[in-house]
Amino acid sequence: MTKLQAINGFKDILPAQIHLWQRLEACATEVCRRFGMREIRTPILEKTELFVRSIGEATDVVEKEMYTFVDKGSTMRPEATASIMRAFIEHGMHVQQPVQRLYTMGAMFRHERPQKGRLRQFHQFDAEIIGPVEPQVDAELIALGQMLFDELGLDVSLELNSLGCPVCRPPFRQNLITRLEAVQDQLCADCQRRLHTNPLRVLDCKKPECRALVADAPAMMESLCPDCDTHFKAVRATLDMLGICYNLNRFMVRGLDYYTRTTFEFITNQLGAQAAVGGGGRYDGLIEDLGGPAVSGIGFAMGMERIVLLMELQQAAAADTDGTDIYLAALGPEALGHCTLLAQLLRKTGVRAAIDYSDRSLKAQMKIANRLQARYTLIVGAQEWEQKEAILRNMQSQEQKPFSLQESAEMQCEQLVDLVRA
Ligand code: HAM
Repeated sequence: MTKLQAINGFKDILPAQIHLWQRLEACATEVCRRFGMREIRTPILEKTELFVRSIGEATDVVEKEMYTFVDKGSTMRPEATASIMRAFIEHGMHVQQPVQRLYTMGAMFRHERPQKGRLRQFHQFDAEIIGPVEPQVDAELIALGQMLFDELGLDVSLELNSLGCPVCRPPFRQNLITRLEAVQDQLCADCQRRLHTNPLRVLDCKKPECRALVADAPAMMESLCPDCDTHFKAVRATLDMLGICYNLNRFMVRGLDYYTRTTFEFITNQLGAQAAVGGGGRYDGLIEDLGGPAVSGIGFAMGMERIVLLMELQQAAAADTDGTDIYLAALGPEALGHCTLLAQLLRKTGVRAAIDYSDRSLKAQMKIANRLQARYTLIVGAQEWEQKEAILRNMQSQEQKPFSLQESAEMQCEQLVDLVRA
Protein backbone atom coordinates (compact mmCIF):
# COMPACT_ATOMS: atom_id res chain seq x y z
CA MET A 1 0.00 0.00 0.00
CA THR A 2 1.33 3.47 -0.82
CA LYS A 3 2.21 5.61 2.15
CA LEU A 4 0.35 8.86 2.49
CA GLN A 5 2.44 11.99 2.72
CA ALA A 6 1.74 15.58 3.61
CA ILE A 7 0.83 17.90 0.72
CA ASN A 8 3.78 19.61 -0.96
CA GLY A 9 4.54 22.86 0.89
CA PHE A 10 2.66 21.77 4.02
CA LYS A 11 4.98 20.63 6.76
CA ASP A 12 4.76 18.92 10.11
CA ILE A 13 6.52 20.63 12.98
CA LEU A 14 7.93 17.69 14.88
CA PRO A 15 8.51 17.39 18.64
CA ALA A 16 12.30 17.71 18.21
CA GLN A 17 11.81 21.27 16.94
CA ILE A 18 9.02 22.36 19.20
CA HIS A 19 11.29 23.94 21.80
CA LEU A 20 12.44 26.44 19.16
CA TRP A 21 8.87 27.33 18.27
CA GLN A 22 7.88 27.63 21.91
CA ARG A 23 10.87 29.84 22.63
CA LEU A 24 9.99 32.08 19.66
CA GLU A 25 6.32 32.24 20.67
CA ALA A 26 7.16 33.00 24.30
CA CYS A 27 9.67 35.66 23.31
CA ALA A 28 7.24 37.33 20.88
CA THR A 29 4.50 37.29 23.52
CA GLU A 30 6.83 38.79 26.12
CA VAL A 31 8.10 41.56 23.83
CA CYS A 32 4.50 42.38 22.85
CA ARG A 33 3.58 42.61 26.53
CA ARG A 34 6.32 45.18 27.09
CA PHE A 35 4.91 47.29 24.26
CA GLY A 36 1.33 47.07 25.53
CA MET A 37 0.18 44.89 22.64
CA ARG A 38 -2.88 42.66 23.08
CA GLU A 39 -3.50 39.38 21.31
CA ILE A 40 -6.23 38.95 18.71
CA ARG A 41 -7.13 35.73 16.88
CA THR A 42 -9.05 35.84 13.63
CA PRO A 43 -10.49 33.01 11.52
CA ILE A 44 -8.46 31.16 8.92
CA LEU A 45 -11.16 31.55 6.30
CA GLU A 46 -12.33 34.99 5.16
CA LYS A 47 -14.38 36.34 2.26
CA THR A 48 -12.16 36.46 -0.83
CA GLU A 49 -13.19 40.06 -1.38
CA LEU A 50 -11.41 41.12 1.82
CA PHE A 51 -8.02 40.16 0.39
CA VAL A 52 -8.75 41.46 -3.10
CA ARG A 53 -9.70 44.85 -1.70
CA SER A 54 -6.82 45.12 0.78
CA ILE A 55 -3.80 43.29 -0.68
CA GLY A 56 -4.72 44.42 -4.19
CA GLU A 57 -5.89 42.72 -7.37
CA ALA A 58 -2.59 43.14 -9.23
CA THR A 59 -0.38 41.54 -6.58
CA ASP A 60 1.19 38.08 -6.84
CA VAL A 61 -0.60 37.05 -3.66
CA VAL A 62 -4.08 37.78 -5.05
CA GLU A 63 -3.34 36.94 -8.68
CA LYS A 64 -1.57 33.63 -8.19
CA GLU A 65 -1.18 32.49 -4.63
CA MET A 66 -4.50 32.41 -2.82
CA TYR A 67 -6.22 29.20 -1.79
CA THR A 68 -9.75 30.17 -2.77
CA PHE A 69 -12.94 28.10 -2.59
CA VAL A 70 -14.34 29.55 -5.79
CA ASP A 71 -17.89 28.31 -5.19
CA LYS A 72 -17.93 29.57 -1.60
CA GLY A 73 -16.37 33.01 -2.23
CA SER A 74 -13.93 32.41 0.61
CA THR A 75 -10.14 32.23 0.86
CA MET A 76 -7.68 30.81 3.36
CA ARG A 77 -5.90 33.84 4.76
CA PRO A 78 -2.62 34.58 2.98
CA GLU A 79 -1.68 37.12 5.68
CA ALA A 80 -3.16 38.55 8.88
CA THR A 81 -3.38 42.32 8.39
CA ALA A 82 -6.55 42.32 6.28
CA SER A 83 -8.34 40.05 8.76
CA ILE A 84 -7.29 42.17 11.73
CA MET A 85 -8.57 45.31 9.99
CA ARG A 86 -11.84 43.53 9.17
CA ALA A 87 -12.21 42.60 12.83
CA PHE A 88 -11.25 46.12 13.92
CA ILE A 89 -14.00 47.61 11.74
CA GLU A 90 -16.59 44.91 12.47
CA HIS A 91 -16.29 45.29 16.23
CA GLY A 92 -15.98 49.08 16.22
CA MET A 93 -12.77 48.69 18.17
CA HIS A 94 -11.75 52.32 17.63
CA VAL A 95 -14.84 53.45 19.55
CA GLN A 96 -13.82 51.55 22.68
CA GLN A 97 -10.19 52.58 22.44
CA PRO A 98 -8.83 54.98 19.81
CA VAL A 99 -5.42 53.30 19.73
CA GLN A 100 -5.37 49.56 19.23
CA ARG A 101 -2.12 47.69 19.67
CA LEU A 102 -2.67 44.14 18.47
CA TYR A 103 -0.68 41.04 17.68
CA THR A 104 -1.40 37.55 16.47
CA MET A 105 0.44 34.36 15.57
CA GLY A 106 -0.83 31.66 13.27
CA ALA A 107 -0.87 29.78 10.00
CA MET A 108 -1.13 31.59 6.65
CA PHE A 109 -1.54 30.04 3.22
CA ARG A 110 0.02 30.99 -0.11
CA HIS A 111 0.33 28.76 -3.16
CA GLU A 112 3.99 29.56 -3.85
CA ARG A 113 6.72 27.27 -5.19
CA PRO A 114 7.93 25.51 -2.04
CA GLN A 115 11.59 25.60 -1.09
CA LYS A 116 13.63 25.98 2.08
CA GLY A 117 12.01 28.78 4.08
CA ARG A 118 9.15 29.12 1.62
CA LEU A 119 6.06 27.04 2.29
CA ARG A 120 2.45 26.95 1.28
CA GLN A 121 1.32 26.79 4.87
CA PHE A 122 3.59 28.99 6.96
CA HIS A 123 3.27 30.88 10.23
CA GLN A 124 3.46 34.57 10.91
CA PHE A 125 3.94 36.63 14.02
CA ASP A 126 2.05 39.80 13.14
CA ALA A 127 1.90 43.09 15.07
CA GLU A 128 -0.25 46.12 14.26
CA ILE A 129 -0.66 49.54 15.87
CA ILE A 130 -3.88 51.12 14.68
CA GLY A 131 -4.72 54.78 15.27
CA PRO A 132 -1.64 56.94 15.65
CA VAL A 133 -0.24 58.92 12.73
CA GLU A 134 2.94 60.09 14.43
CA PRO A 135 6.26 58.95 12.93
CA GLN A 136 7.55 57.95 16.36
CA VAL A 137 5.05 55.09 16.28
CA ASP A 138 6.63 53.78 13.08
CA ALA A 139 9.98 53.72 14.88
CA GLU A 140 8.39 52.17 17.97
CA LEU A 141 6.93 49.30 15.99
CA ILE A 142 10.22 48.71 14.19
CA ALA A 143 11.89 48.75 17.62
CA LEU A 144 9.50 46.01 18.75
CA GLY A 145 10.56 43.83 15.81
CA GLN A 146 14.23 44.54 16.39
CA MET A 147 13.86 43.74 20.10
CA LEU A 148 12.48 40.30 19.26
CA PHE A 149 15.53 39.49 17.12
CA ASP A 150 17.83 40.88 19.81
CA GLU A 151 16.17 38.82 22.53
CA LEU A 152 16.48 35.71 20.40
CA GLY A 153 20.15 36.54 19.80
CA LEU A 154 19.63 36.69 16.02
CA ASP A 155 21.59 38.87 13.71
CA VAL A 156 19.40 40.47 11.00
CA SER A 157 19.55 43.77 9.16
CA LEU A 158 16.83 46.32 8.65
CA GLU A 159 15.95 47.95 5.33
CA LEU A 160 13.86 51.09 5.21
CA ASN A 161 11.97 52.97 2.53
CA SER A 162 9.03 55.30 2.10
CA LEU A 163 6.35 54.65 -0.50
CA GLY A 164 4.71 58.08 -0.27
CA CYS A 165 1.00 58.77 -0.20
CA PRO A 166 -1.91 59.39 -2.60
CA VAL A 167 -0.51 62.88 -3.20
CA CYS A 168 3.02 62.03 -4.26
CA ARG A 169 2.78 58.44 -5.47
CA PRO A 170 0.50 58.84 -8.57
CA PRO A 171 2.78 61.40 -10.35
CA PHE A 172 5.82 59.28 -9.44
CA ARG A 173 4.09 56.19 -10.78
CA GLN A 174 3.22 57.89 -14.06
CA ASN A 175 6.80 59.06 -14.47
CA LEU A 176 8.07 55.59 -13.81
CA ILE A 177 5.69 54.04 -16.36
CA THR A 178 6.94 56.47 -19.03
CA ARG A 179 10.56 55.56 -18.23
CA LEU A 180 9.90 51.84 -18.17
CA GLU A 181 7.95 51.92 -21.45
CA ALA A 182 11.16 53.02 -23.14
CA VAL A 183 12.86 49.73 -22.12
CA GLN A 184 9.75 47.58 -22.05
CA ASP A 185 11.06 44.90 -24.46
CA GLN A 186 14.09 44.24 -22.29
CA LEU A 187 12.15 43.63 -19.07
CA CYS A 188 11.34 40.10 -17.88
CA ALA A 189 7.92 38.70 -18.72
CA ASP A 190 6.56 39.36 -15.21
CA CYS A 191 7.68 42.98 -15.27
CA GLN A 192 6.29 43.56 -18.75
CA ARG A 193 2.95 42.38 -17.44
CA ARG A 194 3.23 44.51 -14.30
CA LEU A 195 4.39 47.64 -16.06
CA HIS A 196 0.94 49.19 -16.20
CA THR A 197 -0.80 47.48 -13.30
CA ASN A 198 1.93 47.63 -10.63
CA PRO A 199 4.96 49.48 -12.00
CA LEU A 200 6.63 49.96 -8.61
CA ARG A 201 7.08 46.19 -8.39
CA VAL A 202 9.42 46.41 -11.38
CA LEU A 203 11.84 48.34 -9.17
CA ASP A 204 11.89 45.42 -6.77
CA CYS A 205 12.37 42.65 -9.38
CA LYS A 206 15.19 40.28 -8.46
CA LYS A 207 16.10 39.35 -12.07
CA PRO A 208 19.52 40.76 -13.07
CA GLU A 209 18.26 42.09 -16.45
CA CYS A 210 15.53 44.14 -14.75
CA ARG A 211 17.85 45.27 -11.97
CA ALA A 212 20.30 46.71 -14.48
CA LEU A 213 17.52 48.50 -16.36
CA VAL A 214 16.11 50.22 -13.26
CA ALA A 215 19.42 50.92 -11.51
CA ASP A 216 19.25 54.64 -12.23
CA ALA A 217 15.46 54.96 -12.23
CA PRO A 218 13.99 57.59 -9.88
CA ALA A 219 13.06 56.29 -6.42
CA MET A 220 9.90 57.12 -4.48
CA MET A 221 12.04 58.04 -1.50
CA GLU A 222 13.48 60.95 -3.47
CA SER A 223 10.11 62.06 -4.83
CA LEU A 224 8.13 62.45 -1.60
CA CYS A 225 5.73 65.34 -1.02
CA PRO A 226 6.69 67.69 1.85
CA ASP A 227 4.43 65.92 4.39
CA CYS A 228 5.76 62.45 3.56
CA ASP A 229 9.31 63.79 3.53
CA THR A 230 8.90 65.31 7.01
CA HIS A 231 7.36 62.07 8.25
CA PHE A 232 10.17 59.93 6.85
CA LYS A 233 12.86 62.19 8.30
CA ALA A 234 11.23 61.95 11.73
CA VAL A 235 11.04 58.14 11.52
CA ARG A 236 14.74 58.02 10.72
CA ALA A 237 15.62 60.51 13.47
CA THR A 238 13.70 58.42 16.03
CA LEU A 239 15.37 55.19 14.89
CA ASP A 240 18.77 56.93 15.16
CA MET A 241 17.89 58.11 18.64
CA LEU A 242 16.84 54.60 19.67
CA GLY A 243 20.11 53.22 18.31
CA ILE A 244 18.39 51.06 15.70
CA CYS A 245 20.56 50.62 12.60
CA TYR A 246 19.00 50.52 9.14
CA ASN A 247 19.92 50.70 5.49
CA LEU A 248 17.91 52.89 3.18
CA ASN A 249 16.64 50.76 0.32
CA ARG A 250 15.28 53.03 -2.43
CA PHE A 251 13.76 50.17 -4.37
CA MET A 252 12.11 48.12 -1.64
CA VAL A 253 8.47 47.98 -2.65
CA ARG A 254 6.77 45.15 -0.69
CA GLY A 255 4.39 42.75 -2.36
CA LEU A 256 1.11 44.10 -0.99
CA ASP A 257 -0.71 47.18 -2.26
CA TYR A 258 -1.95 48.73 0.97
CA TYR A 259 1.26 50.43 2.01
CA THR A 260 1.80 54.17 2.36
CA ARG A 261 4.85 56.03 3.64
CA THR A 262 7.18 53.96 5.86
CA THR A 263 7.96 50.40 4.71
CA PHE A 264 10.63 48.11 6.08
CA GLU A 265 12.01 44.61 5.96
CA PHE A 266 14.18 42.57 8.29
CA ILE A 267 16.69 40.76 6.09
CA THR A 268 19.16 37.91 6.49
CA ASN A 269 21.82 36.65 4.11
CA GLN A 270 21.71 33.16 5.62
CA LEU A 271 18.59 31.81 3.97
CA GLY A 272 19.45 32.15 0.29
CA ALA A 273 16.62 33.55 -1.78
CA GLN A 274 14.31 33.77 1.24
CA ALA A 275 16.08 36.83 2.59
CA ALA A 276 13.08 38.52 4.23
CA VAL A 277 12.43 37.28 7.74
CA GLY A 278 9.87 40.01 8.33
CA GLY A 279 8.35 43.02 6.69
CA GLY A 280 5.74 45.66 7.10
CA GLY A 281 4.83 49.28 6.88
CA ARG A 282 2.22 51.97 7.26
CA TYR A 283 -1.22 51.58 5.65
CA ASP A 284 -2.96 54.89 6.17
CA GLY A 285 -5.82 54.37 3.70
CA LEU A 286 -6.54 50.67 4.24
CA ILE A 287 -9.16 50.82 6.97
CA GLU A 288 -11.18 53.44 5.09
CA ASP A 289 -10.88 51.44 1.85
CA LEU A 290 -12.42 48.49 3.70
CA GLY A 291 -15.41 50.60 4.73
CA GLY A 292 -14.11 51.61 8.16
CA PRO A 293 -13.28 54.95 9.74
CA ALA A 294 -10.43 57.15 8.49
CA VAL A 295 -7.87 55.64 10.82
CA SER A 296 -4.18 55.02 10.12
CA GLY A 297 -2.13 52.00 10.99
CA ILE A 298 1.27 50.43 10.84
CA GLY A 299 2.33 46.82 11.26
CA PHE A 300 4.67 44.04 10.33
CA ALA A 301 4.67 40.28 10.02
CA MET A 302 7.53 37.89 10.51
CA GLY A 303 7.92 34.46 8.96
CA MET A 304 8.20 32.12 11.92
CA GLU A 305 9.64 29.19 9.91
CA ARG A 306 12.41 31.49 8.70
CA ILE A 307 13.16 32.68 12.22
CA VAL A 308 13.29 29.08 13.47
CA LEU A 309 15.75 28.27 10.64
CA LEU A 310 17.89 31.20 11.77
CA MET A 311 17.68 30.06 15.38
CA GLU A 312 19.09 26.71 14.27
CA LEU A 313 21.75 28.24 12.05
CA GLN A 314 22.89 30.84 14.53
CA GLN A 315 22.75 28.32 17.35
CA ALA A 316 20.90 30.86 19.38
CA ALA A 317 18.48 28.18 20.39
CA ALA A 318 18.42 27.22 24.00
CA ALA A 319 18.93 23.52 24.53
CA ASP A 320 15.88 21.35 24.28
CA THR A 321 14.65 21.36 27.85
CA ASP A 322 11.80 18.96 27.23
CA GLY A 323 13.61 16.09 28.99
CA THR A 324 12.09 14.08 31.81
CA ASP A 325 12.89 14.84 35.46
CA ILE A 326 12.32 11.34 36.74
CA TYR A 327 11.60 8.00 35.15
CA LEU A 328 9.83 5.42 37.30
CA ALA A 329 11.09 1.95 36.38
CA ALA A 330 8.59 -0.48 37.89
CA LEU A 331 8.80 -4.30 37.70
CA GLY A 332 5.89 -6.43 38.78
CA PRO A 333 2.26 -5.46 39.30
CA GLU A 334 2.54 -4.10 42.89
CA ALA A 335 5.51 -1.90 42.10
CA LEU A 336 3.77 -0.72 38.94
CA GLY A 337 0.64 0.19 40.91
CA HIS A 338 2.71 2.18 43.39
CA CYS A 339 4.69 3.96 40.67
CA THR A 340 1.50 4.82 38.78
CA LEU A 341 0.30 6.72 41.85
CA LEU A 342 3.72 8.27 42.41
CA ALA A 343 3.83 9.53 38.81
CA GLN A 344 0.45 11.20 39.24
CA LEU A 345 1.49 12.87 42.53
CA LEU A 346 4.78 14.08 41.00
CA ARG A 347 3.07 15.47 37.91
CA LYS A 348 0.57 17.34 40.10
CA THR A 349 3.47 19.23 41.66
CA GLY A 350 4.86 20.14 38.23
CA VAL A 351 7.56 17.48 37.99
CA ARG A 352 8.00 15.82 34.59
CA ALA A 353 7.59 12.17 35.46
CA ALA A 354 7.53 9.24 33.01
CA ILE A 355 6.50 5.62 33.40
CA ASP A 356 6.09 2.59 31.15
CA TYR A 357 3.30 0.10 31.86
CA SER A 358 4.38 -2.81 29.68
CA ASP A 359 6.41 -4.62 32.38
CA ARG A 360 9.62 -4.63 30.34
CA SER A 361 12.94 -5.81 31.70
CA LEU A 362 15.01 -3.38 33.73
CA LYS A 363 17.51 -3.15 30.87
CA ALA A 364 14.77 -2.15 28.44
CA GLN A 365 13.41 0.40 30.89
CA MET A 366 16.83 1.98 31.42
CA LYS A 367 17.01 2.41 27.65
CA ILE A 368 13.68 4.23 27.74
CA ALA A 369 14.93 6.45 30.58
CA ASN A 370 18.00 7.37 28.53
CA ARG A 371 15.96 8.10 25.45
CA LEU A 372 13.74 10.42 27.52
CA GLN A 373 16.85 12.17 28.88
CA ALA A 374 15.66 11.45 32.40
CA ARG A 375 17.73 13.12 35.12
CA TYR A 376 16.82 10.43 37.67
CA THR A 377 15.39 6.94 37.56
CA LEU A 378 13.62 5.34 40.50
CA ILE A 379 13.97 1.58 40.19
CA VAL A 380 11.28 -0.43 41.96
CA GLY A 381 11.76 -4.11 41.16
CA ALA A 382 9.81 -6.92 42.82
CA GLN A 383 12.57 -7.38 45.39
CA GLU A 384 12.80 -3.65 46.14
CA TRP A 385 9.05 -3.61 46.60
CA GLU A 386 9.24 -6.51 48.98
CA GLN A 387 11.98 -4.86 51.06
CA LYS A 388 10.36 -1.43 50.81
CA GLU A 389 13.58 0.05 49.51
CA ALA A 390 13.93 1.27 45.92
CA ILE A 391 17.06 2.41 44.07
CA LEU A 392 17.41 6.00 43.01
CA ARG A 393 19.83 6.49 40.13
CA ASN A 394 21.32 9.80 39.06
CA MET A 395 21.44 9.24 35.32
CA GLN A 396 24.30 11.66 34.71
CA SER A 397 26.70 10.67 37.48
CA GLN A 398 25.37 7.07 37.46
CA GLU A 399 25.45 7.20 41.25
CA GLN A 400 22.84 4.97 42.95
CA LYS A 401 21.32 5.44 46.40
CA PRO A 402 18.67 3.55 48.36
CA PHE A 403 15.28 5.24 48.50
CA SER A 404 12.93 4.19 51.27
CA LEU A 405 9.39 3.12 50.39
CA GLN A 406 8.35 2.88 54.06
CA GLU A 407 6.64 6.27 54.16
CA SER A 408 3.40 7.18 52.38
CA ALA A 409 3.40 7.84 48.63
CA GLU A 410 2.85 11.55 49.41
CA MET A 411 6.01 11.67 51.56
CA GLN A 412 8.01 9.84 48.89
CA CYS A 413 6.72 12.31 46.34
CA GLU A 414 7.87 15.25 48.51
CA GLN A 415 11.37 13.82 48.79
CA LEU A 416 11.60 13.28 45.05
CA VAL A 417 10.34 16.82 44.35
CA ASP A 418 13.03 18.24 46.66
CA LEU A 419 15.64 16.21 44.84
CA VAL A 420 14.53 17.29 41.36
CA ARG A 421 14.28 20.95 42.36
CA ALA A 422 17.58 21.03 44.26
P1 HAM B 1 4.75 39.78 3.79
O1 HAM B 1 6.03 40.46 3.42
O2 HAM B 1 3.95 39.26 2.67
O3 HAM B 1 3.93 40.81 4.64
O4 HAM B 1 5.06 38.59 4.77
C1 HAM B 1 5.75 38.81 5.97
C2 HAM B 1 6.77 37.71 6.20
O5 HAM B 1 6.13 36.45 6.17
C3 HAM B 1 7.86 37.62 5.16
O6 HAM B 1 8.90 38.55 5.40
C4 HAM B 1 8.33 36.19 5.32
O7 HAM B 1 9.25 36.12 6.39
C5 HAM B 1 7.06 35.48 5.73
N1 HAM B 1 6.50 34.73 4.58
C6 HAM B 1 5.76 35.22 3.58
N2 HAM B 1 5.44 34.24 2.71
C7 HAM B 1 6.00 33.10 3.18
C8 HAM B 1 6.04 31.75 2.73
N3 HAM B 1 5.41 31.34 1.64
N4 HAM B 1 6.73 30.84 3.49
C9 HAM B 1 7.37 31.22 4.61
N5 HAM B 1 7.35 32.49 5.08
C10 HAM B 1 6.69 33.42 4.38
C11 HAM B 1 2.70 40.56 5.16
O8 HAM B 1 2.18 39.47 5.19
C12 HAM B 1 2.04 41.77 5.77
N6 HAM B 1 0.71 41.37 6.27
C13 HAM B 1 2.89 42.34 6.87
C14 HAM B 1 2.26 43.53 7.52
C15 HAM B 1 1.60 43.54 8.70
N7 HAM B 1 2.19 44.75 7.00
C16 HAM B 1 1.52 45.54 7.83
N8 HAM B 1 1.13 44.82 8.86
